[in-house]
Amino acid sequence: MTESMMDLRHEPRDRAYGLLHSQFLGVMAGVDDDITGMATLASLLYHSFAHSWAGFYRVVAPRLLRVGPYQGTLGCLEIAFGRGVCGTAAEERRAVIVPDVSRFPGHIACDARAKSEIVVPVFDRAHSLIAVLDIDSERRAAFDQADVDGLERILRWFAGEGRG
Ligand code: SME
Repeated sequence: MTESMMDLRHEPRDRAYGLLHSQFLGVMAGVDDDITGMATLASLLYHSFAHSWAGFYRVVAPRLLRVGPYQGTLGCLEIAFGRGVCGTAAEERRAVIVPDVSRFPGHIACDARAKSEIVVPVFDRAHSLIAVLDIDSERRAAFDQADVDGLERILRWFAGEGRG
């Protein structure tokens, strides 16, 4: 399979996520595997938007996240619920946008280049939290509600939408 990476940096956000969603569903057609989905999405997001880090932290114990498939420099391995941006999103089961990481109390700095960040929870078919998607940018205020909307739509694949 040869899939070329799209350059979505300059597309309007809703169109960009629509294109990325279509590509993701095309690549994943017939593959029913969460880790494969996470790896594929991390790669598409990282390359298509030129983010500095994109990947998943998986729920591996009742209140513990462990790094999963990602692209970028080394991520910290484990994050407790309630800690950092990822642990906050997991604890509160909601997306968290951080326009300036230096102003987020308890931000966990894995990559010194990161200036802003978005974390979106990932739910399965039973609406159990299985992971969070974490994306870092070298630009300040790189993310807003349009990113939450676009990412949440794509992440519904993990709850069975468009899967199979
Ligand atoms: N900054 C995150 C930690 C993960 S790294 O950015 C990859 C946080 O505060 O949860």
